Amino acid sequence: MKRIDVIGMGPGNEELLPAAYRLRMQTAQRVFNTRQIPISTLLGHLGEPFEGHTVVLVSGDTGFHSLAQTIEKRFGQSHEVVFHPGVGSISCLSAKLKIPYDDAELISLHGNHTLLVPRVSYCNKVFALTGGTQTAADCCRSLTAAGLGDVKVAIGESLTLPEERILMGKARDFVAEQGVDLAVLYVENPNWVSPHRMLKDSEFIRGEVPMTKEEVRHLSIGKLEINPEDLVYDVGAGTGSVSVELARKAFRGMVYAIEKKPEALHLMEANRLKHGAFNLEVVEGTKPCRWVRITLIPPVIVKSSNLMPWSANQSIASALCSVKNFNSAWLFIPPPPLRVSP
Ligand SMILES: C[S@@+](CC[C@H](N)C(=O)[O-])C[C@H]1O[C@@H](n2cnc3c(N)ncnc32)[C@H](O)[C@@H]1O
Repeated sequence: MKRIDVIGMGPGNEELLPAAYRLRMQTAQRVFNTRQIPISTLLGHLGEPFEGHTVVLVSGDTGFHSLAQTIEKRFGQSHEVVFHPGVGSISCLSAKLKIPYDDAELISLHGNHTLLVPRVSYCNKVFALTGGTQTAADCCRSLTAAGLGDVKVAIGESLTLPEERILMGKARDFVAEQGVDLAVLYVENPNWVSPHRMLKDSEFIRGEVPMTKEEVRHLSIGKLEINPEDLVYDVGAGTGSVSVELARKAFRGMVYAIEKKPEALHLMEANRLKHGAFNLEVVEGTKPCRWVRITLIPPVIVKSSNLMPWSANQSIASALCSVKNFNSAWLFIPPPPLRVSP
């Protein structure tokens, strides 16, 4: 059977390749290095009729956001595909910093829409692959814009290569950096909060603005069955008590809280900061046409609270969807106050 050995080449320095891997490269009929050939070209070559033994060198380790999986899926039926692990770039930065990653959240922001801000809000330690549309500098800008400019960051650029650089400081220190494609980011937020605890009324900063009470809040949010990655819209967000709790439920997503009253906007911002809900964006506005200010990342899932009138829910959802061309959106509108008959 035709054979493809997928070798994790580590962060890039060839001296780190084990002797056994070098031997495989020497005996193979062809060797492709993903650092030197576009992925589409490589996959094209692997699909060509070829009877010999092929080695593909992939970046870092084969088990972490690696092209190895694509190769197995595409060619695993027709070839014997074997993976050989390498040193991951995150473990490389972890060693440089002497900070373990066994208790950290490990994510990839490379070429995808994964959001860093929520992870940092709800985790003490995050290691992230960066690059493409989310360079380490872009990440520092997003963190700073969300109010997390003071978190500790370390950026490991071109690790193990001659141009290696380790930058350390606060997120806000790197907002003006250019950002390179080959970098791993470490973020430490000592003020992270657990997203798994629901909040009591007494924990919110209150004013004259009416607040959805604890029991209603918990019940209705529970009914929404929000998933961690969801994007949620809280329309008429008031004090932000619902928004903050929604942000915890969507602890890998975002909540956009739309409110028109200035005093409510101030309260919401205060509650957002008090509860570390940095994945909550407060938006001043009244009408769907103002919502274009919101930055959205698909996919957005549509669900609705049972407590709100369907017609209102549907019209807001369709307005949002037409603005951003989405299929659906999460919405929460607080229920009207109970009327007591005389
Ligand atoms: C497609 S991912 C591959 C990840 C790989 N499987 C691993 O375990 O590290 C490519 C990303 O790895 C990181 N990376 C790879 N080599 C690196 C290096 N020498 N220095 C810093 N980051 C590196 C960068 O974040 C880059 O965007």
